[in-house]
Amino acid sequence: MAKIFLIGYMGSGKSTAGKRLATKLKSEFIDLDEFIEGECGQTIPGIFEEKGEAEFRAIEHNALKKLIAKENTVIACGGGTPCYYGNMELMNNNGITVYIKMSADALTSRLMNSRNKRPLLEDKTEEELRQFIAEHLEKREDFYHQAHYTVKGKDLDIDELVRFVSKV
Ligand code: S3P
Repeated sequence: MAKIFLIGYMGSGKSTAGKRLATKLKSEFIDLDEFIEGECGQTIPGIFEEKGEAEFRAIEHNALKKLIAKENTVIACGGGTPCYYGNMELMNNNGITVYIKMSADALTSRLMNSRNKRPLLEDKTEEELRQFIAEHLEKREDFYHQAHYTVKGKDLDIDELVRFVSKV
């Protein structure tokens, strides 16, 4: 089995789906954010705070390049990964990309309680969060829609996803 990249907005369930998918496929699972935290010895909010978003994107791109040679791996990306440094093309050319799609409303409710772990969302009220996500998601979908497959994030059927990627 090849390399599978799970992409999608923050809170869409990429890591949970990725772990389950990797178990079913008997593949290794890597969470890109955790990989970056391990490499940098710093949390993602810490990297944003100390180095800023632009440097985080460069670190993220380098981390992705390090993982590109791996086989039999399911990689859960960060929500912004596909949108910078040609990462979407890099992933499309080196594995199977799957967009876990969820509506802005569903994402808003899921992210309300975990927004403080995410530097781009912290300090927003529920209404600000809803508006930010709706606009941000629309821009990001230009990249997300380049994925080989799109699956519904709500009530995600892992067995269907397994059948999907096994056919490739
Ligand atoms: C980001 C998403 C985060 C993390 C960072 C930036 C984004 O990952 O990479 O906070 O730009 O959407 P998750 O999608 O796992 O929350």
